[in-house]
Amino acid sequence: MSTSKIWQGNSTFILAAAGSAVGLGNIWKFPYMVGSNGGSAFVLIYLICIFAIGLPVMVSEIIIGKYGRKSPVNSLKKISQEYELNINWKYLGVLGALAGILILSYYSVFAGMAFSYIFNLFPSGLENPSNYSSKYFLDFTSSPGKLIFWHSLFLITTCLIVGLGVIKGIGKSVNFLMPFLFIFIILISLYSSYVGDLKSTLRFLFNPDFSAITPDVVISAMGQAFFSLSIGMGAIMAYGAYMPEKQLIGKTVLTIILLDTFVALAAGIAIFPIVFSNASLEVTAGPGLLFETLPVAFYSLPYGNLFSIIFFLLISIAALSSSISLLEPFTAWMEEKKKYTRRIIVVYFRILNLVFRACQHFFF
Ligand code: ALA
Repeated sequence: MSTSKIWQGNSTFILAAAGSAVGLGNIWKFPYMVGSNGGSAFVLIYLICIFAIGLPVMVSEIIIGKYGRKSPVNSLKKISQEYELNINWKYLGVLGALAGILILSYYSVFAGMAFSYIFNLFPSGLENPSNYSSKYFLDFTSSPGKLIFWHSLFLITTCLIVGLGVIKGIGKSVNFLMPFLFIFIILISLYSSYVGDLKSTLRFLFNPDFSAITPDVVISAMGQAFFSLSIGMGAIMAYGAYMPEKQLIGKTVLTIILLDTFVALAAGIAIFPIVFSNASLEVTAGPGLLFETLPVAFYSLPYGNLFSIIFFLLISIAALSSSISLLEPFTAWMEEKKKYTRRIIVVYFRILNLVFRACQHFFF
């Protein structure tokens, strides 16, 4: 790979990899998984999995990407050839690229929904809280037109960034977006801690109840740790190829993991105080918690509408910085085939995705 595809300075790689890791998994999935898996027991197992399994796997992915300096498929192929290993290891890269695309296909639906909430909260939120109550969520999820529109808007933004390239697209966008993400999550957690029930939240998150640890909780926590760190889906391996030569892998991975864990816990501190202070909300509400019930709870709080908007902006930024990393392994792989440019690849991807979505809505 030419040096034109290597990020300058250590911070871009950290922001890109942290952007990949921090996503809907932290802000949407982590709180509801904690809520439905026994609270602190889940958090404890999750933290163990992050450090005991996630850390070494992330280090390995970055080493492979950095050594190969190609897409995950071709980095694995290069290493297999140089070390006379079984060439079929490259299929691990193929699986990663496909996993990224498959995750993106549903990820972008929820991310599109978060986009829609920002715009719907702006004009009407101040007057009509029922606009974004569970009725809004139900109307939205049962309307193929709305789902396709907002999901397309999100995916086109993702394709535009990836299509612009590693330096001008991904590098520039993470440098711009990630500071906002960190500012917003700190702002929202401080706000929620102030207006909501922080004491119950801290007890719920950090007072381990060992009796709640079951095999199901362990499996869910492990899955969540892999998803949250973006490992096993090619994203981190693909970014490893753009890491500056002199950047230290161990220190960088530790920073990324700490940032990811910080955002997941901060998301819990942003959401649960509001849930605990509102008798009509349940921590076990599941996936709908974020979209269905929280906006209504925010509405009744001081400056709640403003903070709702900030909250959905935060979710959209987190989702965008992850979705570009989900598309990158596939795009980089196709680009190496030299038949298509990056821009053409993302346009093909977008068209295929749209056809798939339309078939799904109209035939199933
Ligand atoms: N790591 C990304 C997330 O947690 C995929 O959303």
